[in-house]
Amino acid sequence: MTLKGKKILVTGGAGFIGSHLVDLLLKKGARVRVVDDFSSGKRENLSQHEGNDNLEVVEGDIRDRSLLKTTLSGIEWVYHLAVKCLRESLKDPFIVHEVNATATLDLCELCREVGVEKFVYVSSSEVYGSAEYVPMDENHPLNPTTAYGASKLAGEKYALAYFYTYGLPVTVIRPFNTYGPREHFEGVYGEVIPRFIIQLLNNHPPTIFGDGKQTRDFTYVEDTARGILEISLHPDAVGKTFNVARGEEVSIIEVANLLIHLLNKETISPVFLSPRPGDVKRHFANASYARKVTGFEAKVAFPEGIEKFLLWFRNAYSDPETLLPLIEKFGWE
Ligand SMILES: NC(=O)c1ccc[n+]([C@@H]2O[C@H](COP(=O)([O-])OP(=O)(O)OC[C@H]3O[C@@H](n4cnc5c(N)ncnc54)[C@H](O)[C@@H]3O)[C@@H](O)[C@H]2O)c1
Repeated sequence: MTLKGKKILVTGGAGFIGSHLVDLLLKKGARVRVVDDFSSGKRENLSQHEGNDNLEVVEGDIRDRSLLKTTLSGIEWVYHLAVKCLRESLKDPFIVHEVNATATLDLCELCREVGVEKFVYVSSSEVYGSAEYVPMDENHPLNPTTAYGASKLAGEKYALAYFYTYGLPVTVIRPFNTYGPREHFEGVYGEVIPRFIIQLLNNHPPTIFGDGKQTRDFTYVEDTARGILEISLHPDAVGKTFNVARGEEVSIIEVANLLIHLLNKETISPVFLSPRPGDVKRHFANASYARKVTGFEAKVAFPEGIEKFLLWFRNAYSDPETLLPLIEKFGWE
């Protein structure tokens, strides 16, 4: 399917995963409109496209229905990624509900009115809660442990309800933990891998919440963005839900030890803090459904992705000491 000239809206397109998706869409010749309020997204995530007439950036809040309506003008496909993150849900569940659930319902309704040809809802593995069995396929029980997970589940259920009721051509994608270039490390948005990198580059011990035995299925961001795109392009993806993940289980302590090794900081040992509220114990995906239906497969193995990320990180931030104050707050204290 050609994307050349396709008019595509990406909500949250200045964010971590959204900006990588925008990179792919522009590379394929699509005309992309991003709507983002820059609450966690950054202009520099899209600065590589400065001067590209195929990219339009609209600064605004997706909770503003009239703005959403204007933003949808002329749009054929929608990728919906705008989100308030998990840590924000621990201190302000209401705003997280408004953005992740209510605004998704608004967007579905407006997309139905406009008659978009494709609506891709980027959900999250957090809708599963902790693994009841592994590897977790798309039929795994949905028992989110945080208001964030619950709001993402509401978002995907609204989107699918619009498919069943009105025929809105919806595909739901559930990425598992994604890491790589442009990942957040600052305050409430800070994710574990870049936080560990900053701590170690400054000769500080990586701080682990809980016993470190909790696992995640870490997926490199270029794989996640490619998964969202490739799955959504497949004609059989409509009305379906897909995991996007590498399909490998890695514990947090293994992440810390790998980074200690790669950064030659063998004299440093991790320190353990109280567990994070609502933290899921185990996430390990069965990624075979996407492979079977659409042929998509994540390619970047975990150590390889970490090395790529480290390379990028060192280039992007030449003075890691300046980043230390930015990782002091966790967002739920
Ligand atoms: N990062 C992960 O590991 C991961 C894992 C699973 C699922 N996801 C999903 O992927 C999507 C993107 O996540 P991300 O990690 O890139 O997050 P992100 O915070 O980097 O991106 C979200 C974007 O939404 C924007 N935004 C927030 N509130 C908004 C509002 N009210 N109006 C307009 N824009 C708003 C932010 O500024 C940001 O650019 C989300 O839907 C998330 O649930 C992410």
